[in-house]
Amino acid sequence: MEVDRKALIADLGGEAKVAAMNSEAKADALEEFLMQHLNETGGGAAGKYPTMAEVEAQIETRRHRRGVGNLFISHGSNMKRLPAMPAQPTLADFFELRFKVTSNHVLQSANLAMKNGMSEEVILACLLHDTAQELIKVDHGWWSAQLYEPYVSEKVAFAIRYHQALRFYADKSVGYEYPDLYRVLFGENYKPEPYIEAAYQMVRNHKWYMDARMVTVNDLYSFEPGVNPQIEQFSDIIGRHFKQPKEGLGFDNSPVAHIWRSIISPDRPL
Ligand SMILES: [Fe+2]
Ligand SMILES: [Fe+2]
Repeated sequence: MEVDRKALIADLGGEAKVAAMNSEAKADALEEFLMQHLNETGGGAAGKYPTMAEVEAQIETRRHRRGVGNLFISHGSNMKRLPAMPAQPTLADFFELRFKVTSNHVLQSANLAMKNGMSEEVILACLLHDTAQELIKVDHGWWSAQLYEPYVSEKVAFAIRYHQALRFYADKSVGYEYPDLYRVLFGENYKPEPYIEAAYQMVRNHKWYMDARMVTVNDLYSFEPGVNPQIEQFSDIIGRHFKQPKEGLGFDNSPVAHIWRSIISPDRPL
């Protein structure tokens, strides 16, 4: 992809602001810019995507790893103090107070799934599918599924877990093509790792294949202007398909309670 230098500098707030940024911040800003403008420029047809080697070469230009979760790193200004959470936090509380980076994307995906007449379980899977990225990005399908496993049906957890593998594989029968965004994120010549390929081969013959596939089909990669769904739109579906623990997420002594507590209090040193 060609980078329009003028547009990039304007996007970052002008020459003076850019001059004050360190090289790490500049590299991050460039990555953000590329992602945001991917859809405008049309990606593949006119642009040039990075190779895997170029994506790898970025590793030693940064002070953080790519897989760090959104709660733990800011690509712009300094961190803000997080608002306190209720003593018995619900899923909706996490959407409002902690899922600051992922919530709009997953709400839009769930909203699209609803418009497309998906089942309630698929809509719920879409609503939850990327939220563990607040904590960690690498293997986010597996992390997200684990986070929700005690509270949702096996099918919903399955759909969340395996959307991560399926997104790399097209399924023309439902109009799913390899997303341009992945050419930017993973590199033009990216080949999924053997465990991803093995997961795909298993899932494509599984009775819940279409449930996981539909998460990728309704996954939205760009902000849709004027569409700003709120968590309340999904209250009934959450009520029917999400077993909210009465002690609150993080305090029910489930095998994943500590993960929820880490999201509640990411500023704790140990
Ligand atoms: Fe995802
Ligand atoms: Fe997604």
